[in-house]
Amino acid sequence: MNPRNQSNLLYDRACQVIPSGIYGHMAPGAGLPTDFPLYCQSADGCRFTDVDGKEWYDFMCGFGAVLHGYKNPSVEQAVEAQREWGGVFNQPSSLMVELAEKLVSQIDFADWAVFAKNGSDLTSWALRVSREQSGREYVVKAKGAYHGVDAWCDPGLGGRISSDRSHILEFEWNDSEQLESLFKKYSGKIASVILTPYHHPSFAPSVLPDASFWGTVENLCRTYETALILDDVRCGWRLDDMGSHHYFGFTPDLTVYSKALGNGYAISACVGTEKFRDAASDVFLTGSSWNDAYAMAASMASLNLSIEKRVASSVMTKGRYFCSEFEKLANQFEIPLQMTGVSSMPYPWIDGDDDLYQIQALCKVAASNGLFFHPYHNWFISNAMNQSDIDTVLGLSKKTFESFSESFSRSKR
Ligand SMILES: Cc1ncc(COP(=O)(O)O)c(C=O)c1O
Repeated sequence: MNPRNQSNLLYDRACQVIPSGIYGHMAPGAGLPTDFPLYCQSADGCRFTDVDGKEWYDFMCGFGAVLHGYKNPSVEQAVEAQREWGGVFNQPSSLMVELAEKLVSQIDFADWAVFAKNGSDLTSWALRVSREQSGREYVVKAKGAYHGVDAWCDPGLGGRISSDRSHILEFEWNDSEQLESLFKKYSGKIASVILTPYHHPSFAPSVLPDASFWGTVENLCRTYETALILDDVRCGWRLDDMGSHHYFGFTPDLTVYSKALGNGYAISACVGTEKFRDAASDVFLTGSSWNDAYAMAASMASLNLSIEKRVASSVMTKGRYFCSEFEKLANQFEIPLQMTGVSSMPYPWIDGDDDLYQIQALCKVAASNGLFFHPYHNWFISNAMNQSDIDTVLGLSKKTFESFSESFSRSKR
């Protein structure tokens, strides 16, 4: 029987009723290994089971939305307790005030917080807040950085008109001179610079900030009275329990969080300083289920867990061990692989693999061993993964490198 029988049957049905069947990161057309499952049945801790009944060690965590593990008991109990009261109402519940208070007390620069359902809603809203506050039009971003699905930044080509990006300027990550020349050229016209804590593009190695990078960005923003927006949607609570700006030692004006904030329940937040409070009141914000108390209960529990269990440091430590052992295994089989980025969300890069054929082949073999490693996107370490899970994964990785090294060395001959 085809090991992807149910997945394929569902995909055939999906193609009739959903454009392209599956869209986004998991679209089969994106060149993902054919052994990857297309549909998930269930998930628990650091593992999931696909619709064909195969169990996987998961290194994607719902593309980062799950930090404490799937079905984390504390998060699920908080949501269960809220069920007695209900989830979505006309008005927000008291939980919205409590959650805003929590973020404002936890994030050192934050004076206020607002909530929505996903990252794109709030990265786009934060840009508008910076424009409203400054009366300026231009926004600067790093080339290749992902900030969501809206037309000013999405990586696709469809459905755009030229004016969508007419006020978006780009510079190469870490190129402070290029950034400075944009500030000079567009002096008095740049409303904000939006950046992720470090550069984690898809299809390319992750790049950490140079030692002076964040200091330069901060200085330029202060000098030119430009808002510094941190897009912490992907890294939030995986680098530092107090926000990723803490990890790299700088102070943004506005930060957007989502993904891990609700441990799988859809919620995003933007926090900001006093200076942006009036503009934040003037830029309209709402959305379906915007006051969802279930997601807010999940978020309160998730934030509490992060502090109680020092989760950012925990996933960093687990990631460091995993990354260093994984690299050692690769080297043992003479594969020039390095884990790039931070250890809690690493991306493997094989030297010379610019067309990504090798990493794709490696992930394909890993899939046959029940390891869900993504070839084009950074991975995520779940805090539900314990030492014995990591050691099991490393055993399966060794098996993976053993088979992969044969085709790798053939391709080098
Ligand atoms: C850095 C970053 N910003 C923004 C977004 C957009 O968030 P969402 O997919 O919740 O709209 C993402 C999503 O992957 C992201 O990784």
